[in-house]
Amino acid sequence: PSKQRLLVVANRLPVSAVRKGEDSWQLEISVGGLVSALLGVKEFDARWIGWAGVNVPDSVGQKALTKALAEKRCIPVFLDEEIVHQYYNGYCNNILWPLFHYLGLPQEDRLATTRSFQSQFDAYKKANQMFADVVNEHYEDGDVVWCHDYHLMFLPKCLKEHNSKMKVGWFLHTPFPSSEIHRTLPSLDQKLLRSVLAADLVGFHTYDYARHFVSACTRILGLEGTPEGVEDQGKLTRVAAFPIGIDSDRFIRALELPQVQEHMKELKERFAGRKVMLGVDRLDMIKGIPQKILAFEKFLEENLNWRDKVVLLQIAVPTRTDVPEYQKLTSQVHEIVGRINGRFGTLTAVPIHHLDRSLDFHALCALYAVTDVSSCYILRDGMNLVSYEFVACQASKKGVLILSEFAGAAQSLGAGAILVNPWNITEVAASIGYALNMPADEREKRHHHNFMHVTTHTSQEWAATFVSELNDTIVEAQLRT
Ligand code: UDP
Ligand code: G6P
Repeated sequence: PSKQRLLVVANRLPVSAVRKGEDSWQLEISVGGLVSALLGVKEFDARWIGWAGVNVPDSVGQKALTKALAEKRCIPVFLDEEIVHQYYNGYCNNILWPLFHYLGLPQEDRLATTRSFQSQFDAYKKANQMFADVVNEHYEDGDVVWCHDYHLMFLPKCLKEHNSKMKVGWFLHTPFPSSEIHRTLPSLDQKLLRSVLAADLVGFHTYDYARHFVSACTRILGLEGTPEGVEDQGKLTRVAAFPIGIDSDRFIRALELPQVQEHMKELKERFAGRKVMLGVDRLDMIKGIPQKILAFEKFLEENLNWRDKVVLLQIAVPTRTDVPEYQKLTSQVHEIVGRINGRFGTLTAVPIHHLDRSLDFHALCALYAVTDVSSCYILRDGMNLVSYEFVACQASKKGVLILSEFAGAAQSLGAGAILVNPWNITEVAASIGYALNMPADEREKRHHHNFMHVTTHTSQEWAATFVSELNDTIVEAQLRT
């Protein structure tokens, strides 16, 4: 049988475009968990609809980019500068993102935010309608339309209003906060929740997030929550948890490649005699990078003998650089790193290597493989795929994963990882010592547990389960009427 057609709709396309000339474009793989997971999904006849990350005001450029993207099975949504400012930098990343991760609204911006709320919200709706228009243009009968993330909470409603027969799923890649937090979004949130409920199936990474969503619908909207989902005047929206995974084979296979082996050899030589601790994160407040570095400082303070025997490599991928909170974070992190390197460095070595850049896939695999201790001190994260990727690359080394209890991944990798509260620097510093000194048999046992999980709960399986559940939900709804 022919493959199921799937329209994946997400704000961020798997490739971002860089302009090289009037009608020439270079496409680079985008960074982020959503893209990584969906790239592993092969069993569908899939097309992506989304934003290529650039402003393209001219029709020559738009035409050329549309053509270049078509080769990657991607279809662009062109957002102008003002919309990107209000919708992406504003409503999505300055309001929804911190709120969904329990960070509250940026303090100093609170008043300004309150003032600009309405215009940002209008831009958000407008942007969602632009995504809907592109979906409608490319939709064929029988397609499954899978909408992703907090950028597109209005999309299910826009799509269903246009065509009530469309099969629409929506999946959130971030946490969904408790209804008490959700309520603080000035009254407009009711519209967001209602619009998400227009979907046939709504999915989250963990049961907690799904439960929070259902209770927001019951408490804020007064609807009825059932074990299946949320009911509104006889119509059921199915709500469930679908924990995401990674394409683990892709990582395991990469480690066999000569160029990756070569790179591993170089890294081992460079850091010979020192244990390697690794952090790989977008430079985002939710990742707890300052907390991580301060805990490392405390560890060095208390364990001077480790001072030239351990190195922390922090890959901090620049992200959302037009949002002021992210700019502040960048300078804050640079300042702390500089201070600690000044304090504990020697003429020949520094304790922290901090890189403001992304790495290509092979370099990343090599780095994961030579690491002794991976540190994911996330303050909040929907899942955190970096911790999964580290585990997939550790078959021979069997390194230790220190993982925040506030990452979705703590629910699946908790038994193998050392779980910490990233706010508790004393506890984190102690766990670094524990991890560095862990005996081989304990490391093996912990690694085995996580490796089994990561290799059996893949992104392929995640997508297949979501889509089949969506098809089932629609068949059941038809039977009911
Ligand atoms: N990543 C990447 N290049 C880098 C650093 C990270 O492609 O230089 C990828 C990484 O492999 C992972 C994703 O970015 O798949 C990050 O996903 P995660 O769920 O950990 O966090 P998110 O960025 O989605 O918040
Ligand atoms: C998280 C979000 C994604 C987003 C990614 C990168 O993973 O859940 O939706 O694509 O971060 O962020 P960016 O703003 O660059 O798309």
